[in-house]
Amino acid sequence: MKTKYQVIDLNHYTEADLAEAGRIICEGGLVAFPTETVYGLGADALQEEAARKIYAAKGRPSDNPLIVHITKMEDLEALAEEVPECARKLAEAFWPGPLTMVFPKKPAVPYGTTGGLDTVAVRMPSHPLARDLIRVSGRFLAAPSANASGRPSPTRASHVKDDLDGRIDMILDGGEVNIGLESTVVDVTGEVPTILRPGYVTQEMMQRVVGRVEIDRAILEENVDRHFVPKAPGMKYRHYAPKGSLTVVEGEEEAVIREICRLAEEGVKAGKRVGIIATEETAGRYPAGMVRVIGSRADEESVAHGLFAILREFDDLEAQLIYSEGFGEQGLGRAIMNRLLKAAGHQVITAGGEKV
Ligand code: TXA
Ligand code: MG
Repeated sequence: MKTKYQVIDLNHYTEADLAEAGRIICEGGLVAFPTETVYGLGADALQEEAARKIYAAKGRPSDNPLIVHITKMEDLEALAEEVPECARKLAEAFWPGPLTMVFPKKPAVPYGTTGGLDTVAVRMPSHPLARDLIRVSGRFLAAPSANASGRPSPTRASHVKDDLDGRIDMILDGGEVNIGLESTVVDVTGEVPTILRPGYVTQEMMQRVVGRVEIDRAILEENVDRHFVPKAPGMKYRHYAPKGSLTVVEGEEEAVIREICRLAEEGVKAGKRVGIIATEETAGRYPAGMVRVIGSRADEESVAHGLFAILREFDDLEAQLIYSEGFGEQGLGRAIMNRLLKAAGHQVITAGGEKV
């Protein structure tokens, strides 16, 4: 299949420019488009065959459910059997935006979209192009991140092209995304809203709106209890694994820098291609290895924004050993560390301490 590639200037486009993309969606095809979090791979969520094509294009396990994207609250009523009060409050506070909520599904939502589950994940994106594509097509868009399964989520259209060219109908290039990490997923089917995937909207932010919000044990205890089955099926797969071996080095800043310097030098001496994930504040401190800046420690949003692109860059550079500085787990740091540790397959060193 030939993949059409259309550049959209976000400052100068009209709905007419999205006519072809909208038609492809209606005919059951696949269109990649930017959202405020990462690029999504969209299909008509209520056409089971269309949703199934997404799994084939990504090489995604068929039990990993898709998020359905909408533009208004009435759309939610069409998809969710029941919308609890807490979900309405969360929607009012964070929609449109990077929050996904899990509801009991209406029968109209096919199992091909929900990975066989009786629940459906719904998100109302804020990105203008995502919203216009939903409106122009007149459909709800099932859309996972538009990467090949096992690759980092795409934050640029070129990432989508690298992974899915020839496998999907169209790519809408709307430039770089804003946030760079996928949405927060929260299950609102139980007594207490429970975070299944940490993201830009943090536990603290939601607690301010609805009081109690829990974090799924699987996220908190991922390192401790390997047998605990996560409720978000997607969380059990080893995501974003770079081709090289990634190790996160945690601890006090000076100790981290010393340890990464030592490991990098050791690797280079052994003839390996070594990559270092550093920050603006620390990049000048590493004499050996290919040093790349993920963002600034003073601005954790910049770190979130840089994470997936840097993992892809080290794949392109064919880094065999990659060492990353660790980050604090407060606020957005929880989502950053969740993605980084997944990419590392939980290989963590505490500088000056033991390997865990
Ligand atoms: O920011 C995002 O959420 C992006 C953009 C494109 O919107 N999408 C995205 O989709 O990250 P995906 O498919 O890569 O991740 C969806 C996550 C997976 O971990 C999946 O298991 C979980 O949401 N999920 C989806 N439906 C669910 C359900 N019914 N119950 C529990 N978890 C669900
Ligand atoms: Mg994904």
